[in-house]
Amino acid sequence: MRPGLDTRPDFPVLDQQVNGKPLIYLDNAATAQKPRQVIEAISAYYERDNSNVHRGLHALSMRATEAYEKARARVARFINAADPAEVVFTAGTTDSINLVAQTWAVANLRPGDEILLTEMEHHSNLVPWQLAAARAGAVIRYLPIAGADAEHGLDLARLDEFLTPKVKLFAFTHLSNTLGVVNPAAELCRRARAVGALTLIDAAQSVGHETLDVRALGCDFLAFSGHKMCGPTGVGALYGRRELLDTMPPWRGGGGMIENVEFVGSTWKPAPERFEAGTPNIAGAIGLAAACDYLDALGRPAISAHDHRLGELARAALDELGAPGLRVLGPRAGEPRAGIVSFAFAGIHAHDVITFADQQGVALRGGHHCNMPMMKKLGLPSTARASFYLYNTEEDVAAFAATMRKVVRFFG
Ligand code: ALA
Repeated sequence: MRPGLDTRPDFPVLDQQVNGKPLIYLDNAATAQKPRQVIEAISAYYERDNSNVHRGLHALSMRATEAYEKARARVARFINAADPAEVVFTAGTTDSINLVAQTWAVANLRPGDEILLTEMEHHSNLVPWQLAAARAGAVIRYLPIAGADAEHGLDLARLDEFLTPKVKLFAFTHLSNTLGVVNPAAELCRRARAVGALTLIDAAQSVGHETLDVRALGCDFLAFSGHKMCGPTGVGALYGRRELLDTMPPWRGGGGMIENVEFVGSTWKPAPERFEAGTPNIAGAIGLAAACDYLDALGRPAISAHDHRLGELARAALDELGAPGLRVLGPRAGEPRAGIVSFAFAGIHAHDVITFADQQGVALRGGHHCNMPMMKKLGLPSTARASFYLYNTEEDVAAFAATMRKVVRFFG
């Protein structure tokens, strides 16, 4: 399969010029583009079925409710959850993690309990735990990143030192948005279980790119967004094992999540409705289900192989520049990596790199990538980042390499 060539016509946004040059979109870790199939599923819903869910007995409301619950079942199948009730629709990864932090963590953590994170966590899998730990009196510890210059993945040799019986939850990213490292998630879950800790996987960067099966991973919670996997913005999901979700208190109150309301006190619906107060993002859920269909038709093993190949080619192209002082984060040259490549040229600010690239039609991201503590540890204020997806091609990598050659000539 050559997904770059086969899927490109599905993505209307790619067919345009930016600053007089053909668009080369390499900011997929920030958000992915949407295929016609997803755009059409959302339009069809608004054109034919738009109504509120779980509230009306008229035809449109029943159609909307059926489509919304079908979307839940579709998302459950996409991650191989045992039961659609284990899928809570949220606004995205950040919202999903905050849900667990403000419900499970606040209800269950006691002073002195530990939450284990890693040094490579995105702020969305770090700040919610700081808020919850402050409320519960819990302690946060960080499994360090390893490597001679500390850029090459988790220091798994130190896992036992951090993963002690004091740890009640181990929350970690499956695929680092800055390093391009894929963590051994099933092994981390197994090790956590052995000390009685629950696990939460931040799958924002992996769910649309890597083969992912919550039962094979053995995780307790998994959080992800629609928009990084060809779905719409503003919708995502929290997977939680049913027996856990059922014991967790609600965190947002309102319509849709109650069983009975009195002037004094209310009772709650079971999960997942308990966590979906107010009118949900119905069109978003339907678009997310269409994205699941789209990605499953291609197959995540093929998408993963494609992304990894482009990531490795981009890294090799950077090394070939021979730019003095160039730092490329994540796996070393020749080692497997995902399609995310962050790098810093000595003496050239990342914002200059991405502004120059934009003039050439190449969309990159520059900055701390919501990984401030890790970037500080690496001694880097910012990096430029190229991130690839199923519609990118080897020609895109060549355009990226040519642009970086110009950057080095222009600023070097
Ligand atoms: N988490 C997104 C990124 O890495 C926004 O760019």
